[in-house]
Amino acid sequence: MTRAVGILGLGHYVPEKIITNTDMEKIVETSDEWITERTGIKQRHIAAPEEATSDLAYNAAVEALKDAGVAPEELDLVIVGTASSDYIFPSTACLVQARLGAKNAAAFDLAAGCSGFVYSLAVASQMVKSGLYNKILIIGAETLSRIMNWTDRNTCVLFGDGAGAAVVGEVEEGYGVLGIDMGADGNGGKFLLQPAGSRNPASEETVAAKDHTIHMNGQEVFKFAIQIMGKTAKRALAKANMKPEELDMLFPHQANYRIITSAAKRLKMPMDKVWVNVDKYANTSAASIPIALCEAQKAGALKKGDNIILDGFGAGLTWAAIVLKWSK
Ligand code: ACO
Repeated sequence: MTRAVGILGLGHYVPEKIITNTDMEKIVETSDEWITERTGIKQRHIAAPEEATSDLAYNAAVEALKDAGVAPEELDLVIVGTASSDYIFPSTACLVQARLGAKNAAAFDLAAGCSGFVYSLAVASQMVKSGLYNKILIIGAETLSRIMNWTDRNTCVLFGDGAGAAVVGEVEEGYGVLGIDMGADGNGGKFLLQPAGSRNPASEETVAAKDHTIHMNGQEVFKFAIQIMGKTAKRALAKANMKPEELDMLFPHQANYRIITSAAKRLKMPMDKVWVNVDKYANTSAASIPIALCEAQKAGALKKGDNIILDGFGAGLTWAAIVLKWSK
């Protein structure tokens, strides 16, 4: 008999400082009206100067471990999905592992852009299912504000900082992860990237060209997102042997309200079954889905036995959807 695997506990953390759309009007030529209409975003949380991605990740992890009733020493593995790690190396997961005192855990980062948390859940769930590990901490954490071009209105209004974490482990039979779909199309990598790296090592020229910041072709990413969110969700549902109408809640990646409503439409889900918080946090990349899940749990919106779907897309280009029967 195979093991059922699900989420044992959730935690999230967002930095205290809020930058509203009206504040953004003082930074670039934009307006609250434009940002609200095109994206649904009203504000974003921004990390304090002394805070980095591992600090946000750590805070979310502490809450998730408490919620799961799991001690750091019980963890077998820490995975951090991120596109804004503290350092190129060591991994942010290693920094979190050390700070938690998770001395029995292996640790690595997972690079799948905004799909990072859903990819991490896919990897972790299969490692527990196989019996290799028993308890895995997965975290989506970002300080995108550090890699944003604050003079480019096409991108800087879209992103925010935050972290969400989950402890993955064995759950009651019939509950937990029921269907997974993951994919990638590296041909679209050029539409959303941070160009500095080993191909383009740091120099005065790369700094002047702002190659260490996010470069994005918004329209191409938008076109990709609206078709892939529905497709990947339907594939995950098919693997779970479930119809969209059996879903109780959709947790889409929070990039843009128009992308979210289009995904809901493709799944014929009414918006009251879709968790939306892009207005409060903007796009927190890999952190957006676990923050949403954690908020829903805290609001009492998740009940044992609920069928939910996590539906993400991101840089790579990547996408992933996971169907779960909520087990808590
Ligand atoms: N304020 C005011 N005007 C702006 C702003 C702004 N912040 N940004 C762009 N504009 C202007 C543009 O310059 C353009 O003006 P022009 O017509 O004079 O050239 C006009 O608004 C329209 O721009 P578009 O790009 O056509 O606007 P669009 O409706 O496509 O919306 C947006 C842009 C919001 C970026 C949209 O394309 C989008 O959401 N794309 C997906 C982005 C995304 O999800 N990225 C994250 C992926 S996940 C990850 O891995 C990080």
